[in-house]
Amino acid sequence: MFLDFISLADLTGDEIVGLMDLADTLKKDLREGNVTHPLKGKTFALIFEKPSLRTRVTFETGIFQLGGHGIVLESGQIRLGERESVPDVARNLERWVDGIIARTFSHEAVVALAEHASVPVVNALTDKLHPCQIVADAQTLREHRGDLGNLKLAYIGDGNNVCASWLNFAARVPLNVTVVCPKGYEPDPDILAFAKREAKGEIVVTQDIEAGLRDSDAVYTDVWASMGQEDESGKRKKIFAPFQVNAKLMSIANKDALFLHCLPAKRGLEVTDDVMDSPQSIVFDEAENRLHAQKAILVQLIKNNAEAKS
Ligand code: CP
Ligand code: NVA
Repeated sequence: MFLDFISLADLTGDEIVGLMDLADTLKKDLREGNVTHPLKGKTFALIFEKPSLRTRVTFETGIFQLGGHGIVLESGQIRLGERESVPDVARNLERWVDGIIARTFSHEAVVALAEHASVPVVNALTDKLHPCQIVADAQTLREHRGDLGNLKLAYIGDGNNVCASWLNFAARVPLNVTVVCPKGYEPDPDILAFAKREAKGEIVVTQDIEAGLRDSDAVYTDVWASMGQEDESGKRKKIFAPFQVNAKLMSIANKDALFLHCLPAKRGLEVTDDVMDSPQSIVFDEAENRLHAQKAILVQLIKNNAEAKS
């Protein structure tokens, strides 16, 4: 039973699918006006060291819809680890709030928050992982394609936090994942080794764009320079240029292949307008599902923590 939500590797496959199922239910409930307040009286602190549109709005909206309250702490406000140590921030927050949601540069900061706070901690993106994103993406892919077990997802671009969380997902829930990336931009070797060891589906890393995209049911990309890597943008633009997802590249994948992107997208760099705006693109469905997936994560975490304490 998971008491924090730091990495998909910490959950079982059943627990991840359970979150996707709950997200579907909460989505249906919202659409049908079925109002329930499982987070009534619960307060969450939201720490953001990096910018955010989707994560911040969907967490705040989701907490409100479930009857709870969210307090956003911008990076300048608490200066995590600088004004006060991460463990001390955790030891303060646990006295007031029922959960902590944190987007930090260092992954270790989120891990330390979880270690030192008795309340659940949610990873809202670190330099290493972005697990909330992948629950919403997997929910979206399942809505469009049904069971994921026989699908091939081609992740093309930088082997970054989003890519690593897809590998963790595939380690737990059957899905074939091929990572297509330039040399030197491969995913975290430990996470890759873990996924290869644990996954039921096939896990491949290749520099060969043709081979990587062939037979894929879903093509996923993300920015070439993540938050915190802005000074590498120029260099990366040149290296990643052949990996741009454009109509020609999409034509290598299956005819009905879907296009996914966690957003924000740098249109004209990692993806062209014609792909972003094509009928194959489900990027805004993914964005919508961030709301439902994160509501599911919070509801399940509060339930698990209450059970663990009883
Ligand atoms: N995909 C995502 O996490 O978006 P934000 O950075 O806007 O939160
Ligand atoms: N890899 C990107 C994801 C943004 C949601 C970043 O970390 O900036």
